[in-house]
Amino acid sequence: MSGVSLPRSYLYVPGNAPEKLSKALTRGADALILDLEDAVPMTEKDNARSTVVRWLREQPADLATELWVRINPGPLLLTDAGALANIPTLTGLVIAKCEGPGDVSAVADLLTARGDIGTLLMPLIETARAVLAAPAIAEGPRVHQLQIGEVDLGADTGIEPGADEAELGGIRSMIVLASAAAQINPPLGPVSRLTSDPESLLASTERVRRQGFVGRACIHPAQIPVVHDVFTPTEEEIAEAESVLEVFAEAEAEGSGVVLDSAGRLIDLAVLRGARKTLALADRPRR
Ligand code: COA
Ligand code: MG
Repeated sequence: MSGVSLPRSYLYVPGNAPEKLSKALTRGADALILDLEDAVPMTEKDNARSTVVRWLREQPADLATELWVRINPGPLLLTDAGALANIPTLTGLVIAKCEGPGDVSAVADLLTARGDIGTLLMPLIETARAVLAAPAIAEGPRVHQLQIGEVDLGADTGIEPGADEAELGGIRSMIVLASAAAQINPPLGPVSRLTSDPESLLASTERVRRQGFVGRACIHPAQIPVVHDVFTPTEEEIAEAESVLEVFAEAEAEGSGVVLDSAGRLIDLAVLRGARKTLALADRPRR
């Protein structure tokens, strides 16, 4: 995990909705994903692309909010990517319905050919093929993080999650493992369709966090506080992690790599690594 910047929330904003775009930065999300794909009808694709490019160019360079754009798969993939090359305020591109490592390298090659060296990529894993190719996708050039898309995945596979989403647990784990094995950031969690049921959203988001995701995509501003609540380490978790570092440092100074804490629990290098991750997550930029 780079620890540089891992937003807790990414708010999707339809690219052809200027009234939503104009106030999007005031909604409190750590990051925005301006959408050119499924929130935009076919007849609006060109308009959305030019609206988003113009909007991105109008933003100040030192914005605290990360700005991403979700691009279309298939015939529009490179048209979208080409239009978004070399925009200083853009953090990266989310590749919708990424089918395999070929999509990632095609976009990365195009950006490189345009002289764009900084734009990151976030492949969206939302088809059966992509789930099975996730290890290779995660190894692709410029891949910062994977994102799971469960609505499309359900349509592609016939999986119908129940209230506890147990049916999706195995697939979520595949995405988390593919990310860890490729040594990229932990993945971004799925959109929830619930916009007025904070209790169910909370339970679902806590589950997503336990499963190894470090943030969640949102579709409505009402989801953001719930997602932040879950993905911000509590004071207690931070104190616990700091105490692990302290106890381990004392043990190390005495030449030992394993020690028990005051509650009789083992502290070793693996526990230390976990504590460092908690502190890195606690250090994330907030809005
Ligand atoms: N981004 C920015 N602002 C949003 C927003 C979003 N995704 N969703 C809602 N808002 C704003 C509304 O414009 C409204 O603003 P206002 O109070 O200043 O008028 C406020 O939040 C309350 O919204 P509400 O009236 O409850 O919802 P809505 O009917 O305006 O919008 C959706 C509902 C589903 C159309 C909207 O949430 C949306 O477009 N979501 C994103 C969809 C998307 O991008 N999907 C692709 C990824 S899965
Ligand atoms: Mg989708």
